Amino acid sequence: MKQRVVSGMRPTGKLHIGHYHGVLENWVRMQDSYDCFFFVADWHSLTTEYADTSGIAESTREMVLDWIAFGLDPAKCVIFRQSLVPHHSELNLILSMVTPVSWLERCPTYKEMQDNLETKDLSTFGFLGYPVLMAADIILYKATRVPVGHDQLPHLEVTREITRRFNYLYGNVFPEPEALLTETPKLLGLDGRKMSKSYGNSIYLSDNADETSRKVMSMVTDTERVRRADPGDPERCVAFNLHRIYVPQEKLDEIIPACKGASIGCVDCKKILAGCINERLEPFRAKRVELASNPGFVDELLRDGSRRASLISDSVMEEVRTALKF
Ligand code: TRP
Ligand code: SF4
Repeated sequence: MKQRVVSGMRPTGKLHIGHYHGVLENWVRMQDSYDCFFFVADWHSLTTEYADTSGIAESTREMVLDWIAFGLDPAKCVIFRQSLVPHHSELNLILSMVTPVSWLERCPTYKEMQDNLETKDLSTFGFLGYPVLMAADIILYKATRVPVGHDQLPHLEVTREITRRFNYLYGNVFPEPEALLTETPKLLGLDGRKMSKSYGNSIYLSDNADETSRKVMSMVTDTERVRRADPGDPERCVAFNLHRIYVPQEKLDEIIPACKGASIGCVDCKKILAGCINERLEPFRAKRVELASNPGFVDELLRDGSRRASLISDSVMEEVRTALKF
């Protein structure tokens, strides 16, 4: 029996290459060896976007186009939308009854997010309950493995505590899910800060070859290499964090000494990089353009996947109601 994997992403819109190498590529690899459920966590988006929900539908569409174009395959895994499987909400409610408020208040992400998103009022019941909904997402499918980044580990810890408490109170219904920590190489953006949508320094999966080249050419390099004749150092070079991913090793073995000996200029060096990125991403982008030309594609795919997810969640909720003697 394959281990069951559940993971979700909040719909934040089109994904950048940092998302791809950090999360999506990992999901794509897992489809073959695990029984995977991947979903759009649109209710989770509401915890921070409740005052303006107008972007969520479009963000969902863009994100799912990236998922499929870059390799998630609905024939290999179940791809769905949280809000189309109302059992998530039913289980969330039941779990909320057995979750001490103190577990949620002491979750480090709770205070952090409130401090970081000062412009939004996050003193809501729903935002406090974020980890409870996440626990419901996971155990609703009796998942045993949850691929997450470091930032989500506290939520997974709460999930495990809630799971144990449920099982203690009502009988052993759920396996305790374990985190599969995704080692995310934090990609740097064009300006040398962490690649992030909010910094406007990202290369998107949906960018075409020209946009990508333009962005690469604008990328910060080694700030201590002021003139073309100055020796550079790839270790200090922002662009080089992408070379490591996209440029083949033989080529890197030429570039590194050439940079240090000032025999290659940054313009030429970044042209090589742009060429490699474009070559690697081109087939996926072409597929994305094709998928996007069918306006009903994402809706249909999510409806179908949500029906498949519901088959499992329906029977698990039956067990839950029985365990509760309802
Ligand atoms: N909180 C996760 C994030 O922001 C998204 C998420 C929601 C999730 N439910 C989940 C991830 C269940 C894994 C499992 O990245
Ligand atoms: Fe970076 Fe290449 Fe310029 Fe060296 S030559 S600083 S590796 S862009």
